[in-house]
Amino acid sequence: MSETILSMRNLVKRYRMGDEWQTVLRGIDLDVEKGEFVAVLGPSGSGKSTLMNIIGCLDTPTEGSYTLHGRDVGGLDESELALVRSKEIGFIFQSFQLLSRQNALQNVELPLIYSGTGQRERTERARLMLERVGLSDKMRHYPNQLSGGQQQRVAIARALANNPTILLADEPTGALDQQTGRQVMNLFHDLNEEGNTIIMITHDISIARHAKRIVRLLDGELSEGVAEDA
Ligand SMILES: Nc1ncnc2c1ncn2[C@@H]1O[C@H](COP(=O)(O)OP(=O)(O)O)[C@@H](O)[C@H]1O
Ligand SMILES: [Mg+2]
Repeated sequence: MSETILSMRNLVKRYRMGDEWQTVLRGIDLDVEKGEFVAVLGPSGSGKSTLMNIIGCLDTPTEGSYTLHGRDVGGLDESELALVRSKEIGFIFQSFQLLSRQNALQNVELPLIYSGTGQRERTERARLMLERVGLSDKMRHYPNQLSGGQQQRVAIARALANNPTILLADEPTGALDQQTGRQVMNLFHDLNEEGNTIIMITHDISIARHAKRIVRLLDGELSEGVAEDA
């Protein structure tokens, strides 16, 4: 049985620039079911980061509704959003965003500290996640002692640590060479097969094609699928 975990209806985002309002997202309708692997594909300036920030509860829509895991998150305040974020979303960024003075294990433990998990369980869970991404032999390495691909795998382990509802990735292969990028996509594929829901933002169609479903963002409007010749 399918379960809708993300639902947007006529979602609009405007930014105010001085006296002018710029409409960046123009009535987005989007449903994502549990277990999907969706790519949001769009060129630079199409509104991808704006949409990602809203999906990830880093920002709120100007109009329309956003329901995440059964909860209307459109009107939440900062601290409520932060709670939802740490519980529901595992972020993966282009630039990995690891803490340079913490080793791999400590980086993966970080979200578990925020969620109030005790020390023993935290370490156990972080170890497990690092094993899952194939880094059991690198747990005490610092980011600068790891390759780009390995750093991204640490970041993926960190994103998985709290067992989030959605893995939300922003250009996850943008800083990696092609072969390493493919390895990361293979890992995404396996994580999706294991039941993780993944939303991946990208401007690169060859990366988007790794997802099971592609939605296209163009000038703040979303459409399903992509032309075969694209
Ligand atoms: N905080 C902001 N204030 C004003 N305009 C913004 C802000 N963030 C983004 N924009 C505008 O929204 C449009 C889409 O930006 P963005 O979501 O970053 O697109 P993408 O990630 O696809 O490149 C751009 O025209 C950008 O200038
Ligand atoms: Mg962007």
